[in-house]
Amino acid sequence: MDKFVIEGGERLKGTVRIGGSKNAVLPLLAATILQKGIYRIGNVPRLRDVETMIKLINILGGKTKWIEEHRLEVDTGQLENHVAPYEIVKEMRASVLVLGSLIGGLRRATVSYPGGCAIGERPIDLHLKGLSMLGCDVHIREGYVDVTAKHMKGARIIFDTVTVGGTENILMAAVLAPGETIIENAAREPEVIDLALMLKKMGARITGEGTEVIKIKGVDQLTPCDYEVIPDRIETGTFLAACGITRGSITIEKCNPSHIKAIIDKLRETGMEIIEEGETIKALMTKKKPTAVDITTMPYPGFPTDMQAQMMALMSISRGVSAIRETIFENRMMHAAELRRMGADLRVIGNTAIVKGAKMLSGAKVMATDLRASASLIIAGLAAYGTTEVSRIYHIDRGYESIEEKLRGLGAKIERSKEQG
Ligand code: EPZ
Repeated sequence: MDKFVIEGGERLKGTVRIGGSKNAVLPLLAATILQKGIYRIGNVPRLRDVETMIKLINILGGKTKWIEEHRLEVDTGQLENHVAPYEIVKEMRASVLVLGSLIGGLRRATVSYPGGCAIGERPIDLHLKGLSMLGCDVHIREGYVDVTAKHMKGARIIFDTVTVGGTENILMAAVLAPGETIIENAAREPEVIDLALMLKKMGARITGEGTEVIKIKGVDQLTPCDYEVIPDRIETGTFLAACGITRGSITIEKCNPSHIKAIIDKLRETGMEIIEEGETIKALMTKKKPTAVDITTMPYPGFPTDMQAQMMALMSISRGVSAIRETIFENRMMHAAELRRMGADLRVIGNTAIVKGAKMLSGAKVMATDLRASASLIIAGLAAYGTTEVSRIYHIDRGYESIEEKLRGLGAKIERSKEQG
């Protein structure tokens, strides 16, 4: 297994380019199953999770090939297999996003029931409830979700809690279901909007994407299309937090500032200067220490849970005391114990971390437990005194393309090396 070795203390300077959004491209790739044909998807990030989704599409009978560094051609002309196997789903929960498109495209889906993961149990009960309301027969057998859709029809679905994946699965199942489907309490994330825009480009009839009520009028046929993935808003936020903790001055290109208003507002509260110029953000932290701010994670447009761990690292050297409350996942504070090993002065009480700004973090050997926790430990290592080794960084390769190269491009001292033993 690989690890990162980071020498702290360098102030980040220079320009970094943001890649395509992991959480947008995964449902977009699943959507190619809805209609046989050839799709060319641009701005696709080279991530382990993308490779896993590509593997799944190939298992289902699709053909994929990289036609440029970040442009993928997907041919689902021969796609007939409706079984998403355990071996793939256990690698990546987001494989469950093919449920909706297999139902929409083949009227049949057998998908391994996703297990929990480090950050929480992550059930899919709302996905399955929505499919049942669309007229599907849903059975759980031998660890698989087995869904058949003999007589689908539009329905009014109210989600008990906001679910990004649930909204995306029902969107994809409903676009070819006769009648009108209304999704209430729908997720409003930019990635949901991106999926809706691609489906509309394919001929789907959708209104309300980006609001809590999405309406879909079923059509008989869709048409394959080409599509460009939106920039990754969490990668953008991660680099902003890295700039803040190192008192840096960076330019972020190919991003979408309108997708990260809550993140920008919070970082401005800490004292960062952030200038938005179209697809570019200029960020500068001249203050010696960020001002402590309180954070509560919420569904979009609130502060994103995927930035909670990164902000905890920044707050660990703030001036003051910060309360960070995680309301989306039940176990997304594992980075706290690792940050404490670097000298962070924090306590976790239930789903809230109370973080008292420390004078300085000290480098240490720490272990990544999940994707965003890895980012948090790297951010802390950039500012810590001395050397930090972050192990199990296969987590970070799931969601960040070449993060160490991008950070080195900003002056960070970070190397990837083999874990001994
Ligand atoms: C998506 O996960 C993202 N992943 C996550 O990003 C992100 O943290 C999450 O949305 C919240 O924004 C992808 O888009 C691939 P949810 P998803 O369904 O869809 C509960 C990252 O780091 N729930 O919105 O799985 C669930 O337990 C990853 O990039 C049910 O109870 O999240 C959770 O508490 C991590 N029943 C809450 O809803 C259901 O049927 C939000 O989950 C579905 C969800």
